[in-house]
Amino acid sequence: MSEIKSVFAREILDSRGTPTLEVEVETVRGVFGRASVPSGASKGEREAFELRDGDKKRFRGKGVLKAVYNVEELIAPEINGMDICDQWGIDQEMIDLDGTPEKSRLGANAILGVSLACARAAALELGLPLYRYVGGTNARVLPVPLLNVFNGGAHSGAPVACQEFMLRCKKADSFADAIEMASSVIACLRELLLGKGYSVTVGDEGGFAPAGFQGGTIAVLELLNNAVEKASLAPGKEISIAIDMAASSFFKEGIYDYSVFEKEGAKLTADEQIAFIKKLVHGYNVDSVEDALAENEWESWRTLTAELGSQCQLVGDDLFVTNVELLKKGIAEKCANAVLLKPNQIGTLTECCTAAQLAQRSHFNTIMSHRSGETCDSFIADLAVALGTGQIKAGSLARSERLAKYNQLLRIEDQLGEGALYGTF
Ligand code: PGA
Ligand code: ZN
Repeated sequence: MSEIKSVFAREILDSRGTPTLEVEVETVRGVFGRASVPSGASKGEREAFELRDGDKKRFRGKGVLKAVYNVEELIAPEINGMDICDQWGIDQEMIDLDGTPEKSRLGANAILGVSLACARAAALELGLPLYRYVGGTNARVLPVPLLNVFNGGAHSGAPVACQEFMLRCKKADSFADAIEMASSVIACLRELLLGKGYSVTVGDEGGFAPAGFQGGTIAVLELLNNAVEKASLAPGKEISIAIDMAASSFFKEGIYDYSVFEKEGAKLTADEQIAFIKKLVHGYNVDSVEDALAENEWESWRTLTAELGSQCQLVGDDLFVTNVELLKKGIAEKCANAVLLKPNQIGTLTECCTAAQLAQRSHFNTIMSHRSGETCDSFIADLAVALGTGQIKAGSLARSERLAKYNQLLRIEDQLGEGALYGTF
């Protein structure tokens, strides 16, 4: 056992150039663990609190110097001397010190930075890879990547309300094989876009984001299926499509209002939205839909799940915000059948792991996830293997903060050698 000696924090920048927190934890044996914290753009209402300075003279109010102060002056004195391997104890100490349900006193960003840095330091102390420290000796399932190749909604200038269009590499032999398949589809998609006169600049998560795109959700799905075929792969069989509607971002007064992002966008009632989702699933090889409905619409979620849950993965992101209590409600009320896991939605590693355990015990699928604002920290890659989530979404094969996660998974698969299993085994 080694104890925490000191904890440092600093303000760094994320992939949007917005300040975020980096934390370093040093043990008495001189080992350093470092981690940084991501940030979302289309956040759920009930996510843990992200503390920002609000000083408009610095970074338009988005500085995180208060969070830096909270780590060094409030959290460090409480956890110095604790066993670096006592992850639950460290996390609980910070939860108690904060004392609020949404971690608004210390900031969930301050707490998460410390929580993740401690896990890294502990793994280094023990000389173990991070995925093995957190997941144990049987942590050997590589996740199926969901690669977000077309960015809409709040992540892009493309006039498409649906936020994410992802390739789901179901029939690969390995993680490396899945990445190779996706890479060839992305190259074909690029050619198709250029052929139609669209730009191939990318959005926040590395997917294409053509500003003048015509045709909305269905036009994107047709393009994606064409790209899969062009890459000599079978749409729906080898590669299916996952989407994130992020429906809360265009849900206005009871209506799903696509005109928030699309010029001539439809205005749909909940029943019409459900019918639209069914059309996408039945006609366009979509077999995973995240946040198809808005985050407080439990009744509609129940209808959607009853009607489509046996044929399609229905993922709750804003609906559950990696929160065990909300997930329990979803399980009890039969809303959704999968949960997205984002450590910064809840604020500690322990709570994120507990949400994953609850989901898996309840036969919900689990998907580890990045945020749209990221750093090159690849913690979630290790965590996906540690928890055996079976799936991960970390953007497209572009932008180094996205590739950092996929490249780390390639390393892990390589290290595991013959022992590695691919998500759909
Ligand atoms: P965010 O979006 O990171 O911008 O919140 C990601 C998602 O909705 O899955
Ligand atoms: Zn989402």
